[in-house]
Amino acid sequence: MRLLFLGDLVGRAGRTAALEALPQLVEDNRLDFVIVNGENAARGFGITEEIVQDILDAGGDVVTTGNHVWDQREALVFIERQERLLRPLNFPAGTPGRGINLFTARNGARVLVMNVMGRIFMDSLDDPFAGVEAALAACPLGDVADAVVIDVHAEATSEKQALGHFVDGRATLVVGTHTHVPTADHQILPGGTAYLTDAGMCGDYDSVIGMDKEEPVNRFIRKIPSGRFQPAQGTPTICGVAVEVDDTSGLASAVAPLRIGGRLSPAWPSFWPAPR
Ligand SMILES: [Fe+2]
Ligand SMILES: [Fe+2]
Repeated sequence: MRLLFLGDLVGRAGRTAALEALPQLVEDNRLDFVIVNGENAARGFGITEEIVQDILDAGGDVVTTGNHVWDQREALVFIERQERLLRPLNFPAGTPGRGINLFTARNGARVLVMNVMGRIFMDSLDDPFAGVEAALAACPLGDVADAVVIDVHAEATSEKQALGHFVDGRATLVVGTHTHVPTADHQILPGGTAYLTDAGMCGDYDSVIGMDKEEPVNRFIRKIPSGRFQPAQGTPTICGVAVEVDDTSGLASAVAPLRIGGRLSPAWPSFWPAPR
């Protein structure tokens, strides 16, 4: 099975680039399952029902989120009827929506997807490790699920690495999101779990984590807001991670970053056909 995960779509530029590229990526590379983090897809803050549908129509199977999930208030309502939209699983009990769901990939495999948020330099939610443990106990890899993907939405690299090791051998892919900057540590952990600390964003990298540079720089210098954060609108880089899944074990047999367009150096998985 062939998986693709795309990092946080930021604003119109990142969203448009990713959604225009996705149908061809799915077709040319025979992708069985695609997960997209959409927490910044609506003008940089949150996601609308229409955008979720656009991602699904372009070939996405699941949309994950993070701390920005409720920035568009409509998400509190439509998440209840959109089972392909996930919010972090460790929000308090009673939070709308779900953080875990089981899906069927194009090859028929059952894919368990989890979205979990870190607690270091972020809101203090329920224990992400306990939450992931409970989900894996209920739906273990190789039993109920043929693949398990965990989007760890977290600020601290240490917390993401620790979670990767915590589930090594019990998940197919652990991929970080939230920092909007791709890391170069993609690897298969000793137990067989593909791991990447951060996928990076799909957005304009001539920016401060996807936003027009001026106001973030001003706030660091003056500590007085002088405007709103607006997504940068330059040519975006699509950033993600590709995984080949061993169909017997459900663990990873290969992992590689994907970067297309914009300012970052390109990266294309060697186990995919050459790009056309
Ligand atoms: Fe984000
Ligand atoms: Fe975030």
